[in-house]
Amino acid sequence: MPTSKSSPSILILGAGCFGLATAHHLASRGYSNITVLDKDSEVPSRFSAANDLNKVIRAEYADPFYTDLALEAIHKWRTDPLYTPHYHQTGFLNVTSNAASRVTRDVVEKYYSSIQNHPGFSDQVRRVNGDAEIKDLVPGFTGPVEGWSGYYNKLAGYAHSANTLEAVYKACLALGVKFHLGESVGEVESLLYASSLRSGTTCIGARTRGGNVHLADKTILALGASAPTLLPSVGKQMTGRCWGVAHIQLTPEEARSLRGIPVTNVRDLAFFFEPDHETNKLKFCHMGGAFTNFAGSKQGDRSLSLPFPTISESAFIPADDERYIRQLLREVLPDLADRPLIDAHLCWIADTDDSDYIVDFVPGMGESLVVLSGDSGHGFKMIPIFGGFVETLLTEGRQIQKKWQWKRSKPSAGAAWRSGESQELASVVRAKL
Ligand SMILES: Cc1cc2nc3c(=O)[nH]c(=O)nc-3n(C[C@H](O)[C@H](O)[C@H](O)COP(=O)(O)OP(=O)(O)OC[C@H]3O[C@@H](n4cnc5c(N)ncnc54)[C@H](O)[C@@H]3O)c2cc1C
Ligand SMILES: *[C@@H]1O[C@H](CO)[C@@H](O)[C@H](O)[C@H]1NC(C)=O
Ligand SMILES: *[C@@H]1O[C@H](CO)[C@@H](O)[C@H](O)[C@H]1NC(C)=O
Repeated sequence: MPTSKSSPSILILGAGCFGLATAHHLASRGYSNITVLDKDSEVPSRFSAANDLNKVIRAEYADPFYTDLALEAIHKWRTDPLYTPHYHQTGFLNVTSNAASRVTRDVVEKYYSSIQNHPGFSDQVRRVNGDAEIKDLVPGFTGPVEGWSGYYNKLAGYAHSANTLEAVYKACLALGVKFHLGESVGEVESLLYASSLRSGTTCIGARTRGGNVHLADKTILALGASAPTLLPSVGKQMTGRCWGVAHIQLTPEEARSLRGIPVTNVRDLAFFFEPDHETNKLKFCHMGGAFTNFAGSKQGDRSLSLPFPTISESAFIPADDERYIRQLLREVLPDLADRPLIDAHLCWIADTDDSDYIVDFVPGMGESLVVLSGDSGHGFKMIPIFGGFVETLLTEGRQIQKKWQWKRSKPSAGAAWRSGESQELASVVRAKL
């Protein structure tokens, strides 16, 4: 832990999930000179994947490494006063519909037995098979839910992710972290480098679009899916991909009848959450193989898939996503099946081929430049402990956790827990909402 005299200056680029988690943790550990820049004019940023009504908090992973971390994070969600107001332990119901293939069902079976044997889940997970058991578990489901089968995990739920970001932001301000927000003073246009014979090339800070220069001992790049816009080399190990998110508006009475339902993931259709407490909106997401935007590559060489630069360009979902969501509604809440979908947008993640995060120094720069990326769609739940990963990196002076090292591999097809292949957005038919 640094004393205030020895505290290195830290410049964090991006006030999304990883950037805020890092700023907050380092500030609470005695780093006294931290500056954060973000391109949006407020936090939560509209460009952050975590600026959303809710995100799933669950610990079952095929890889026990992440299971253990997620259990540690869930402990904080349940006990740390910064996080508890935003965490709702509604449980997580993970099923396939009747239409799912035999292969998918076998995967569920194998997956269930693997988590059932983990001590962290003792008595928390059980099989749920068929409509009678589903309706017994969730009486609010009025549809046929025919043939739905999978498991229910009690030690899981969701967090209001936008409100969590806001809470962590306020905690950062209280700890003296400085923020510069908005296109001119917050949007980073380039990294700044210096070279000398003795130390080679080092990163010395960043320049914003309005020309402001921020110098720092350590620069931490936390731009999520946009990381390659400032550091193209990281684009060799992650791909910007997105999923569509949409909502339907419930009346207060409708919302009441679904209060406390588990997060429900119907793997072959879509997942949804209990209605949001403030807005009574139900959120849906079809988590297929996700979509890429290689056509948007500034380089023009189509080597990078990047998020659209503006919010309005991401304000749609593919027509197929709507089809999956309506099919889901017909099976589970048929009265709502024709209700308009609202607030539809694409949500961007930084996907790696092995779904492992990237938390490392950029090679060849000494210890001057850190990259936090590769969230692969499962970073938010770690917000209570993610900053600790970065502190360990800074203290050790290298990434001792092999999984999170700067990767040399090329991203390929999506991870096993997704269904389907990635598709380029330019070829996607958009839903007419
Ligand atoms: C549909 C969907 C569902 C998800 N569900 C879950 C879930 O259930 N559970 C879970 O754990 N995770 C989930 N995630 C993943 C989670 O949201 C991400 O892992 C997390 O937000 C990644 O954090 P990040 O800081 O890397 O990126 P982000 O949160 O996206 O933050 C990046 C930040 O960089 C800023 N920025 C970009 N460019 C610049 C620039 N040039 N200058 C300055 N600032 C810039 C942006 O404004 C933004 O604030 C989901 C993601 C999506 C898309
Ligand atoms: C849901 O279960 C499937 C097995 O059918 C598993 O592959 C997947 O990871 C689970 N989903 C989540 C979010 O845990
Ligand atoms: C914080 O760091 C910056 C950049 O290194 C430096 O210019 C500034 O004087 C530092 N502020 C304090 C209070 O130490």
